[in-house]
Amino acid sequence: MYDGDIASVLITEQQISEKISELAEQVAKDYPETGADLVLVGVLKGAVMFMTDFARALPVPVQLEFMAVSSYGSATSSSGVVRILKDLDRDIAGRDVVIVEDIIDSGLTLSWLLKNLASRNPRSLEVCTLLRKPDAVKVEVPVKYVGFEIPNEFVVGYGLDYAERYRDLPYIGTLDPKVYS
Ligand code: PRP
Ligand code: MN
Ligand code: MG
Repeated sequence: MYDGDIASVLITEQQISEKISELAEQVAKDYPETGADLVLVGVLKGAVMFMTDFARALPVPVQLEFMAVSSYGSATSSSGVVRILKDLDRDIAGRDVVIVEDIIDSGLTLSWLLKNLASRNPRSLEVCTLLRKPDAVKVEVPVKYVGFEIPNEFVVGYGLDYAERYRDLPYIGTLDPKVYS
């Protein structure tokens, strides 16, 4: 599939699944059951694969919410413009909330999202991201759960796209520059 477009496999399907088990264990430990279920807020569309695997790996009950925001369009670097394409369906006031992201690159999407969700008065608000790039340290975003720190390369697969393609790959790979040049 996508023959020749992927320069290398950065993180295999098995590495992803092992990491998700670790993250789920960590998160479950931090949220002993309180009566109200933990609310996972998946950021569409990139986080969708991670969200569904992560939710199933968690041994505590969770409710699934989604937000769709967009910062990239089809470009390979962040524009800093965040738009809400779809908002939460439910009120998160008084709830324990974990934002689930596939990747933090510049951190712009997340810093905006954290402010936006914090203003809705959740009981607690944390972030769980599968991937984080080094540029993310430029914007101060407190991220409690990080799967992998990755180099500053354009990556696709497992939810991550280039121009809406490659999200369906089961692993994370680097995109051959010929695809976007
Ligand atoms: C990507 C990715 C993160 C965000 C990270 O989403 O899924 O949500 O960019 O970039 P940042 O840290 O520089 O803000 P994108 O806007 O491409 O939308 P998508 O999830 O629908 O692909
Ligand atoms: Mn995204
Ligand atoms: Mg994208």
